[in-house]
Amino acid sequence: MCSQSVQTTTLGATNITVPALGIGTWQWGDNLFWSYGKDYGSDQVRSAFEAAVEAGITFFDTAEVYGLGESERLIGKFMRDSDRPIQVATKYFPLPWRFGAQAVADTLTASLERLQLESVPLYQVHAPLDFLMGQRTLMNALADEVEKGRIGAIGISNYSAEQMRKAHSYLAARGIPLAVNQVRYSLLTRQIETNGILDTARELGVTILAYSPLAQGLLTGKYTPESAPKPEGARRLDPRFSPKGLEKIAPLINALKQMGETHQRTPAQVALNWLIAQGNVIPIPGAKNADQARQNAGALGWSLSPEEVAQLDQLSRI
Ligand SMILES: NC(=O)c1ccc[n+]([C@@H]2O[C@H](COP(=O)([O-])OP(=O)(O)OC[C@H]3O[C@@H](n4cnc5c(N)ncnc54)[C@H](OP(=O)(O)O)[C@@H]3O)[C@@H](O)[C@H]2O)c1
Repeated sequence: MCSQSVQTTTLGATNITVPALGIGTWQWGDNLFWSYGKDYGSDQVRSAFEAAVEAGITFFDTAEVYGLGESERLIGKFMRDSDRPIQVATKYFPLPWRFGAQAVADTLTASLERLQLESVPLYQVHAPLDFLMGQRTLMNALADEVEKGRIGAIGISNYSAEQMRKAHSYLAARGIPLAVNQVRYSLLTRQIETNGILDTARELGVTILAYSPLAQGLLTGKYTPESAPKPEGARRLDPRFSPKGLEKIAPLINALKQMGETHQRTPAQVALNWLIAQGNVIPIPGAKNADQARQNAGALGWSLSPEEVAQLDQLSRI
């Protein structure tokens, strides 16, 4: 894919434009859930970064907690060695002992230091947790950072429709749009279509960043009931990766494979293209190596037909 022609979209009602697909980087440095340092390491994730950028995907999602800061540190290093403008979205984690605006400012400072940046285009609250700091104080502290120019836009993550509405209203009082709600969304995890999140996001002009868009690897079709490979890390305990779980999704995986053959694409690319077809959704698939990053970038630049979108819609209602 030519990097000049990559599809773009804006983050909510902001004027920040990003590629219509990002790359998730929880895998970069994390060995609690993923197996960083075991079956892949810094060389592989560096090549994932380079392959994504080469394909025009210059938008990366990270968080202060990924690899306890290592994901941000790695991105900082990779960006320093790259001559392309990169857009990073990172996240603030609401820990119980963070209770005032200064804690938000200090946490952002630490992320910016690891990233070796002066500002990020998107800063997201990782989870809707209230301890001593209420949402109003938190949103106001983030709005202060937008005014200081250290954040381009504000996002939230894992917020319900109601929580999103509240965050949106606190920011509206400051004249700042809520740009995104980052939530789990894939052909195998479609709750946001029925619990009000998708409709409310559309109503408020909030973009959905779809995390785990490949259902943590299930939608690539590489895990099958009868064959290797087995997933690495914590997914070994996930019943969806058991032979029974894999049998259940086999009809959907077969359809992804068939449609992929029609379009000369992989099942992962078809699954990501289906998400983009929903509108107002930016998938952020994780990539551990160059091949995965390149492949995921190939979800852009083509479209499933409306009939294929509808067929996948039906098959994934399981
Ligand atoms: N806000 C939140 O609470 C939250 C929560 C979760 C994730 N996230 C964000 O969303 C991103 C993506 O979610 P995720 O990592 O949970 O799940 P995902 O993107 O659905 O799956 C990623 C995994 O699938 C496999 N994979 C990816 N592309 C592939 C390809 N083209 N071919 C074959 N295998 C491929 C890789 O694992 P294997 O090769 O080991 O199978 C990879 O680690 C994360 O990196 C993170 O940035 C946010």
